[in-house]
Amino acid sequence: MSTLFPGESTADLIARVARHLTPNYAPAPLVLVRGEGLDVFDRDGKRYLDMVSGIAVNALGHGHPRLVAAIAQQARELIHVSNLYINEPSLALAEALVESSGLARVFFTNSGTEANEAALKAARRYQTVVAQRPERTGVLAFDDGFHGRSMGALSVTGQPKYHHGFEPLVPGARFARFGDLAAVDQVLTAERGRIGAIIVEPIQCEGGINMPPAGFLEGLRARADEEDLVLIFDEVQTGVGRTGRWWCAEHHGIRPDVMTTAKGIAGGVPLGAMMANDKVAQALVPGTHASTFGANPLATRAGLEVMRVIRDEGLLARASTLGQRLHAGLQALIGRFFGLAVEARGRGLVQGLELASADLATRVVAAARERGLLLNAVQGKTLRFVPALVATEAHIDEALALTSASLAASSGS
Ligand SMILES: Cc1ncc(COP(=O)(O)O)c(C=O)c1O
Repeated sequence: MSTLFPGESTADLIARVARHLTPNYAPAPLVLVRGEGLDVFDRDGKRYLDMVSGIAVNALGHGHPRLVAAIAQQARELIHVSNLYINEPSLALAEALVESSGLARVFFTNSGTEANEAALKAARRYQTVVAQRPERTGVLAFDDGFHGRSMGALSVTGQPKYHHGFEPLVPGARFARFGDLAAVDQVLTAERGRIGAIIVEPIQCEGGINMPPAGFLEGLRARADEEDLVLIFDEVQTGVGRTGRWWCAEHHGIRPDVMTTAKGIAGGVPLGAMMANDKVAQALVPGTHASTFGANPLATRAGLEVMRVIRDEGLLARASTLGQRLHAGLQALIGRFFGLAVEARGRGLVQGLELASADLATRVVAAARERGLLLNAVQGKTLRFVPALVATEAHIDEALALTSASLAASSGS
């Protein structure tokens, strides 16, 4: 193992992090140095089973040989050229995304928030310039949704705690309760033609692993069709196979006008993408939008390899079957820890276990870490399980056993 800090203790590094990085994160007291598959190791060589995956990013786990080889090869050949020129990896990945999504065109970004900014800008320009409806600047979004931290994405994020101290936000965002089509109709009626787009996560992940009720996403598609609204699916967390299909939208048999993704797409190399149909994509004429690092050959080559490995190793089907196993195991924990574990929700390899309180979830996450399991909680009290798509049954069973032991230790039962 290599270290940049020979002779210094983990406690020293934690203190230096506290001094030299901005204080917006509160990291666990853990310095991770190496990973292999679903295992990560700290400086002392302690092994952790990773159910966090860099927050649903390490789709192929740690150190997948094909991803490592593709990145190394691409780094030797060409790391960056800018969008003033064409590079082959970005073309190949764009074509793979177009084929898997059924959408027409791709704009590459470096993160999920930027993919959503691109989507919001494309929708705005479609309505105001292409369709000549300059009054349609509003965006309908949902309570408990999460779309990122840049000002546009933040403005359509339906969680006031993230807005505090950053107002005034971008005007025009309106919110409805997730899953409530009557509330959607109320907003659309009240705004009388001022809404131009709807942005929604097909599963609200950061908001607590909230599943859409039957017919909800289909209802949004129908309303978008009726009023020519741009329907944007934020698949930053659910996309690229995590739910057992390439895109979560496929489970509902609908196609949004725009889809955004990031996180797992390049297995840990920063990359995001906005995919759009021709109707919306035509709004982005030269000069209207750009990103220096976007479509970078290193990141897009990594993304291409992730998609190829998912296909070659049959990881979509695996995400479904492992997800069922994980879900059933979480349900069983509700029986065992009745009243403390409240509800299991999710699809494929994005699963949540809601606990009775945020305080309990904090204790369980810490107890799990002591036992060699990495977990985190969303919305305070829901444990999130987003293992790599290369997980095995043994990983899932071990995660469930360690979660059970951590719950027992945290609840005194
Ligand atoms: C659904 C969703 N959209 C957008 C984002 C923001 O992505 P990023 O952190 O890459 O900007 C996230 C991140 O958690 C997310 O889960």
